[in-house]
Parts: sequence; C-alpha cells; structure tokens
Amino acid sequence: MSLEKTGFAELDDLLPRLARIAALDAAALDAEHIALLGRKSGAITELLKRLPALPIDRRKAFGAAVNRLKLEAEAMIEARRTALEAEQRAPGGAVDLTMPPRGRWVGADHPVTRVIDELLSIFRELGFTVAVGPEVETEWLNFGALNFPADHPAMDLHDTIYLDAPPVTEMPRGGRLLLRTHTSPVQIRVLQASRPPIRVVMPGMVYRNDPFDPSHAPGFSQIEGLAVDEGISFVDLKATLVQFARRFFGPGTKVRFRPSFFPFTEPSAEMDVECQLCHGSGCPACKGTGWMEILGSGMVHPHVLENGGLDPERYTGFAWGMGPHRIALLRYGVPDIRLFYEGDMRFLRQFGLGAGADA
Ligand code: DAH
Repeated sequence: MSLEKTGFAELDDLLPRLARIAALDAAALDAEHIALLGRKSGAITELLKRLPALPIDRRKAFGAAVNRLKLEAEAMIEARRTALEAEQRAPGGAVDLTMPPRGRWVGADHPVTRVIDELLSIFRELGFTVAVGPEVETEWLNFGALNFPADHPAMDLHDTIYLDAPPVTEMPRGGRLLLRTHTSPVQIRVLQASRPPIRVVMPGMVYRNDPFDPSHAPGFSQIEGLAVDEGISFVDLKATLVQFARRFFGPGTKVRFRPSFFPFTEPSAEMDVECQLCHGSGCPACKGTGWMEILGSGMVHPHVLENGGLDPERYTGFAWGMGPHRIALLRYGVPDIRLFYEGDMRFLRQFGLGAGADA
C-alpha cells in the first residue's frame, strides 16, 4: 500500500491513521471504518462532500487525490479484516490478550534437602569431606563390625528389613543382606578405604521396620560423622559438635551432653540443644523438658577401629549420627514427619520461593 503524500494538507493529515489500520483489532477496525468512510460523517466522506463547492481547477486535482485516498483506505480496511478472520480460523491462532499469564513454575529444595545441605556445608568448613555407602548392607557391616553382639535386639525382624536373597557369606564377615538401619556401616567402609587423619561426614537414607506415624517413618535420612587420628579426645568431640550446634541453631544456643550407650562408641553421649520452639521454658514439642535431642555420639570403640583395620593403641576417634528429617521437624516446628513424604504443594510452598510460586 503506497501512502504517498498527496500535496493536500487535509489529506496528508489522514495518512498516519491509514498506516495504523494494519494493527487494529476487530472492534477498533469497525470504528475506524465508520470514522473514515461512514456515510454521514466519515472524515474522507466529508472531504468528498466538499468537492462540488470547489473551483473547477482545484476540484479536479483534489477530487482525484481524495478518491485515491478513499480507495486506499477501503483496501486497507478490507485487507485487515481478511487477516483478522484468518487469524480467528487458524487453530490456536486466536490470541486472547485478556487472559491472565501463566505463572512460571520454579522448583525449590525440599526442606529436608535444605537441612542436609546446610549441615554438610558447616562440616565442610570444619574440614570434613563427604563419603557415601550403599543402602543394602550385610549383617556384618551394619551390626557385627560395629560391635553389636550377635543377639542384639536391633537385628530382629521387628526392627530390621532383610532382603529376600541368599547371604553373601557366612557370618561373622558377611551374613544376610539388609536395608541399612543407620549410616554407621559407612564408618567401617571409610576406615577400610583410607588412612588417618580421617574427617568425614556420610549422609544417606536408612530403613527400619517401622510403620508411618507422626514421629516415625520406615525410611529416613541420617548423617554420620567420623574423625580419627592420633591423639583425638573427647574434647575434640565436644568442641566440634558444640561449634556445629551454634553454627546451625544460632550463636547463643545452649547445648548439653548426656551419658548414653551405643555398641560402637565408648564412652557415648547424646547431645541436646535448647528447644527451638520454646527456648527452654518447656512446650509440647520438647515434652516440657526445654531440650531437644539432636544426635548420638561417642569415642569410637577400639573394636570398631580394629574392624576398620586400624591399631586402637595408636589411633583414637569420635563419631556421631544425626537425623536430618528429625532436625527439620524441630527447626520448622512441623508436627508430623509424614508431611515431609507426601509431596503436598500447600505444605512445601511454605518453605521458600519456588514449588509453584510465581517467579
Ligand atoms: N547409629 C546411631 C543410630 O542410628 C546413631 C549414632 C550414635 C551414630 C552414636 C554414631 C554414634 O556414629 O557415635 O541411632
């Protein structure tokens, strides 16, 4: 379409309007059709009406120009109308600009994943590397090598999920295959595969023959820790774990150790931090005690060092185990561990940007 200047100001003034016709929507196109060419008071119609009153010489040139403009306007309106109709007919071609835009879906870390990452990064800064082991273990690595007596109740079918598969070798060095009940067997794997100084954290899933209830799940996460070298004492254990607790829960956090028992440590201790919900005054979450149990720990038992191939006369070490699922419960005040497994977006969305939120 040409849209050349006509040399008549009142006609040239209309050229920008003609140029916009190609961008009009259906309603605006109808309105502009009437505004330009309507029989009563269309802008071009009005100009045509003026022709008879003009002097003859002007009438010729002006009339020709108005008529050209009229034809151009009609052609452009017709072309636009055809284009709009084609757009409507094309499958998916109709774009409804009034539709609200779709929100962008951005994933977010699961709250337990976030706790695991944070715990690992704190221990990374304290000089610990990360190791992992398999979720299917032998009786020996899961229990025997960790100094569990052969008749320990934890080995019962009540507590441990055994695989329906032939044992790898006879006990004591092999035994039945099972889903590991804790991450402690990775200690043995690390001891056997490396030399001191050893500082390692070992995250992973563990499994127990427990049904789901508000505070139990048949599978949950643990992070094991192990430090072995010459001259390591209980002071190192306390200093490391207190430092961790203050980094994770906040600088002023109160911490206490209680004597405990684990077959693979001697002496053993459980570490509590002040309840994160009531800060010590006592609430239902801490059963009124003001404290929350965070981890089990202790000095590595000499038998464990031996089973890992180290001389317990020369080396000592400390170890600990904690549960990120449990820590996430305490940290976020979640009343039921099953919420972490259900994938309910209404629950997950509360833990940060993403998980379906608009970016
Ligand atoms: N394995 C223990 C459990 O599952 C946790 C644990 C306690 C790990 C003390 C350790 C430790 O390394 O020293 O309950």
